[in-house]
Amino acid sequence: MSASSHLRTPAPAWLDEPADVNGLVEKVWPVAAERGAGGEVSFGGVAAAELATRFGTPLWVLDEDEVRATARRTLDAFRAAAALQSAQARVYYAGKAFLSAEVVRWVTDEGLAVDVCTGGELALALAAGADPARLGFHGNNKSVAELERAVEAGVGSIVVDSAIEIERLAAIVQRHGATQAVLVRVNSGVHAETHDFLATAHEDQKFGFTLTDAVTAAARIRELSGLELVGIHSHIGSQIFGSAGFREAAARIVELHATLLEGGPLPVLNLGGGFGIAYTSADDPTPIEELATGIVEAVAQECAVRGIPVPNLAFEPGRAIVGRAGVTLYEVGTTKRVDLEGGATRLYVSVDGGMSDNARPSLYGAAFSARIVSRASTAEPVLARVVGKHCESGDIVVDAEYLPADVTPGDLLAVPATGAYCFSLASNYNYVPRPPVVALRGGEARVIVRGETVDDLLARDAGLTAAREGNA
Ligand SMILES: Cc1ncc(COP(=O)(O)O)c(C=O)c1O
Repeated sequence: MSASSHLRTPAPAWLDEPADVNGLVEKVWPVAAERGAGGEVSFGGVAAAELATRFGTPLWVLDEDEVRATARRTLDAFRAAAALQSAQARVYYAGKAFLSAEVVRWVTDEGLAVDVCTGGELALALAAGADPARLGFHGNNKSVAELERAVEAGVGSIVVDSAIEIERLAAIVQRHGATQAVLVRVNSGVHAETHDFLATAHEDQKFGFTLTDAVTAAARIRELSGLELVGIHSHIGSQIFGSAGFREAAARIVELHATLLEGGPLPVLNLGGGFGIAYTSADDPTPIEELATGIVEAVAQECAVRGIPVPNLAFEPGRAIVGRAGVTLYEVGTTKRVDLEGGATRLYVSVDGGMSDNARPSLYGAAFSARIVSRASTAEPVLARVVGKHCESGDIVVDAEYLPADVTPGDLLAVPATGAYCFSLASNYNYVPRPPVVALRGGEARVIVRGETVDDLLARDAGLTAAREGNA
């Protein structure tokens, strides 16, 4: 491609042509990702080619040291911010971001509690040895069986989401002769949309009670023996930069907290998760210490205005704990130049995974970035689109990125910031087996979730089972 034609290539406005097509943008890549003198990138001290040879591609790689350090730093940040207001803070790891037994152990070792939102996530957390008393269970349609299991297991708190669920849970608790701490999920009317906030009086979404209905819900919970109302729960959205949206929510929620306090104790205020990470060079997440201070100060100010003590605070980060610690490693299979309107071209780079291991671009139009990690290149940067192997034109892994013009089959390509909501949102679309997850610690790599095989997928098919039994 000539320099003039790639100048006309339609890159998104936020994407600058990099000065060095081999460079790793610091805030996007795992802390321990490094391009060595030979040009190859290593992750946590393990070379990309070694990972690909030992475990195959596609491969999800998660840096355990980084997950642990981030969990600890996040807990310290919220505890320190709360301590300044004479309050305590608890940090739940939002399991939906990435849940496996090892990850549960890492975050609980580092002092975090865990939140889950389905019976499956609950089963995994319990099987991994999480202390039930330090589990939170939320979700808008928990089944009777799921609630029953949570109560039996002694889950620390259940976030109720509807009037029906309050009655359902009360009946279960009564049957078990138990007492269950509950929080009321509140729809504050503030939600994050892309990087802005919408604040509406009547937000049109499925989660929680409106600020008005929450008062009735809380009163009903307090009437029911066996249910103990401990607080309000709110979550305004995900991938949020800055504390402005949380401040807006805090004003509304503390108002409700003060109202409910008139009817009895209310020791906890859970403000959810949603803290953003950098997926591309255009993203600029606020350091967690700054966010924690901003949010806790906002709550404290709202409490001071109303003359009430600052409650104990809880937060539920998922993405911010695991997102940056993960990369996905792919092998390039084919490349293709596609002519566009106006004489521009786009280089399509097909990799051996796609929307089955990273649904976020096709689900939310999420932006990611990429680099060739098996070698450095001296070729000029060209605008590329990294696509998967699925039978779907929307099967895009990285919509727009500059890659070296000489990218070729056999190159290893890594997509950073895939630690959150990639493994957990994965599918078997097109009968593609889900990749293994490899953890890195102290320069060693080990499998923490095994990859699927095509046989695993075929084994679920009752038609094949019947045929096999018939042949036996
Ligand atoms: C109730 C609740 N808590 C926590 C989270 C975690 O969000 P994030 O991973 O963006 O921190 C979510 C995600 O949507 C959520 O719905």
